[in-house]
Amino acid sequence: MLSLTIPRAALRSAAAPRQFAAAASAASVRFASTKTLRDAVAEIVPAKREELAEIKSKYSESSLGEVKVSNLIGGMRGLKCMLWEGSVLDADSGITFHGRSIPQSQQELPTAADIGRPGKEILPESMLWLLLTGKVPTKEEVKQLSEDLAARGKLPGHIEKIIDSFPKTLHPMTQFSAAVASLNHDSKFAEAYSRGIKKTEYWEPTLEDSIDLIAKLPAVASRIFFNVFGKGDGNQTIDSSKDLIENFTHQIGYGDSEGLIDYLRLYIAIHGDHEGGNVSAHATHLVGSALSDPYLAYSAGLNGLAGPLHGLANQEVLGWALELRGEVGERPTDQEIQDYLWKTLKSGRVVPGYGHAVLRQPDPRFTALSKFCETRPELREDSIVQLVQRLSQLAPPVLKEHGKTKNPYPNVDAASGCVLYSYGLDQFKFYTVLFGISRAIGALPQLVYDRMLGLPIERPKSLSMEALKKIVAN
Ligand SMILES: CC(C)(COP(=O)(O)OP(=O)(O)OC[C@H]1O[C@@H](n2cnc3c(N)ncnc32)[C@H](O)[C@@H]1OP(=O)(O)O)[C@@H](O)C(=O)NCCC(=O)NCCS
Repeated sequence: MLSLTIPRAALRSAAAPRQFAAAASAASVRFASTKTLRDAVAEIVPAKREELAEIKSKYSESSLGEVKVSNLIGGMRGLKCMLWEGSVLDADSGITFHGRSIPQSQQELPTAADIGRPGKEILPESMLWLLLTGKVPTKEEVKQLSEDLAARGKLPGHIEKIIDSFPKTLHPMTQFSAAVASLNHDSKFAEAYSRGIKKTEYWEPTLEDSIDLIAKLPAVASRIFFNVFGKGDGNQTIDSSKDLIENFTHQIGYGDSEGLIDYLRLYIAIHGDHEGGNVSAHATHLVGSALSDPYLAYSAGLNGLAGPLHGLANQEVLGWALELRGEVGERPTDQEIQDYLWKTLKSGRVVPGYGHAVLRQPDPRFTALSKFCETRPELREDSIVQLVQRLSQLAPPVLKEHGKTKNPYPNVDAASGCVLYSYGLDQFKFYTVLFGISRAIGALPQLVYDRMLGLPIERPKSLSMEALKKIVAN
């Protein structure tokens, strides 16, 4: 039987409307002494609200730095003007998730093996739990969450019809974002809002929608994959004994690739959150701040992810690496690689997979994926993976000499798509969809925090050049 240790105060202020609690527990079998994700989130609500109230009362008038004209015309770089709980990005040490670096997360978070599945990597379910609650889940909690996601994973028939009506030639990301927006047909948040739910309870149906959406994203993606590329079964077969990624990999027809399954677990877990200012996370937060439901908010995030300077970059890296290989052969010399880098730069193009708006060191996500490659003989031998590793040594000195980019080191995209390609997943246009499955486990938890904390609609001040000049002239 269930035994929970939720403080009474938490239960009072975060009490679930009956229908959401029922939906949450009906969807999962509880293990003895195991909290559901909903219970674990409910537990943190009072403390988080108190923390924000204290910050408000003590520091509302404290300055976080000045706003310069360069911030305004420079894409708001460096401006500290968003609250984001799940992760913080340091220019030198990279991302931490509730204070845990990627290597620490890999050590602490339950893996596939921990829930009895073949594989060694972190489960995205574990990362989702961490991002939502700030706590490391137990193996049982992760297993239970995995089962809950499996139970929620099927698409309604009308969504299948919508996806099937898209032309094959429509970019998979456009299909993905349209299908995600359409899922709001069944939004519990939208329904509760129209019923007049109290503001303090907004987080609850937001959490329900978020978990439903995360559970359904693999099915949406695999249906698109089947329609566009003719691979997989398109039927969203879900086995509740398998984890989210294992099921997804089967759905897209790569279920027999144990290496790809484990790679995708790691890939999805570490791409989930990269603090709030990146385009997909920020767009989700911005649209969500208008109290649009999680489906509409995340659909906006996906549209941002589809841009070549953001989520499309991994596809571009692979295209660029294959062009390089096509031009100079499978085993290029260092000089040939350096010449190709210069040729790219001199033609006015960026070297894809290098540089970052915030990071000033090699991206720890790139390092984690590279380490994964080192552990797998099939990847160590692969010529594209070898090229990725050589580029990570050869490109930084060239980019430094070129002198433009503030960060000459590889970002995560320098490796991510190339490894997929090595595993035979060579449908480039699908790569950003995989990123889109991942980013949900970071952007949607923040939406839950936004509503738990009662954050307002986002509304920064804009200025025309005329108005700007008047201000600086005074
Ligand atoms: C990620 C990225 C968009 C960050 O942009 P940013 O914050 O404006 O980066 P910087 O401040 O370092 O840019 C300064 C200059 O260096 C250039 N630069 C940055 N990265 C570069 C790269 N990889 N190759 C060549 N030039 C680059 C920029 O285009 C800019 O040139 P400009 O002054 O002529 O406009 C940029 O580094 C880039 O385009 N990288 C390649 C695409 C990529 O890998 N994206 C995935 C990011 S996770």
